Amino acid sequence: MLLAGLRSRKRIAELMDDPALNPAEHRRALAALVRLNRFSNTAGVLWRPILKLANELQRTVRVLDVATGSGDVPRKLAEKAKRADVSLEIAGCDISATAIEEATRQPSGVEFFVHDAVHDRLPTGFDVVTCSLFLHHLSEEDAIALLTNMENATRHLILINDLARSRFNYCAAWIACHLFTRSRIVRFDGPASVRSAFTPKEALTLTERAGLHGATAQSKFPCRYLLSWRRV
Ligand SMILES: C[S@@+](CC[C@H](N)C(=O)[O-])C[C@H]1O[C@@H](n2cnc3c(N)ncnc32)[C@H](O)[C@@H]1O
Repeated sequence: MLLAGLRSRKRIAELMDDPALNPAEHRRALAALVRLNRFSNTAGVLWRPILKLANELQRTVRVLDVATGSGDVPRKLAEKAKRADVSLEIAGCDISATAIEEATRQPSGVEFFVHDAVHDRLPTGFDVVTCSLFLHHLSEEDAIALLTNMENATRHLILINDLARSRFNYCAAWIACHLFTRSRIVRFDGPASVRSAFTPKEALTLTERAGLHGATAQSKFPCRYLLSWRRV
């Protein structure tokens, strides 16, 4: 019955978005997300198009990761850039002060700041704006506002890595969240995220509605898609 309902999108409020969430529990959930991102190779998926752009531009590439959580993805991107001898200037923002406190705990060369990426304009002048596991949190109107903000902030590229809604992915997320963590937040939010997620086709429709024409979406293991939009 529940699985049949996955044909249409149903937004479920995630525990991690609760402003009253206990900071210790919030930090445990962020740590679990780090493990899930490592398993999903999130930074690797984002790195390939960033490297391609860096090779084209032949100068320092400025990257902003919005809704960055504890910042593991931009930190990993910085490490990859260092190993590949690519000059990358990278920043991350999140609405949560607890997340940004976690992100800045370890020195990484990444600049982190608190920012509401849906309701407040993002700083400009970035070459790439990335966003991972956040689009599915939003109503269609807020998703379009986020995409518009990301477009204003980037000179070249938008990359959105998110869960794709499907029955298979719902079951896979349930299993992964019970294998990788005991955090009750992640165990609830993981499957709820797939229930709330857009299909790649729905995400592409949103980008069109935001005026970002010509975006593409590729399926990525596990359970995700990568939506890319390049300014022409
Ligand atoms: C599921 S987490 C994803 C974190 C990280 N991007 C990752 O892939 O692990 C969603 C993040 O979005 C943040 N968030 C929620 N609303 C936001 C907003 N309006 N602007 C910026 N960040 C927001 C939350 O604080 C949370 O850290």
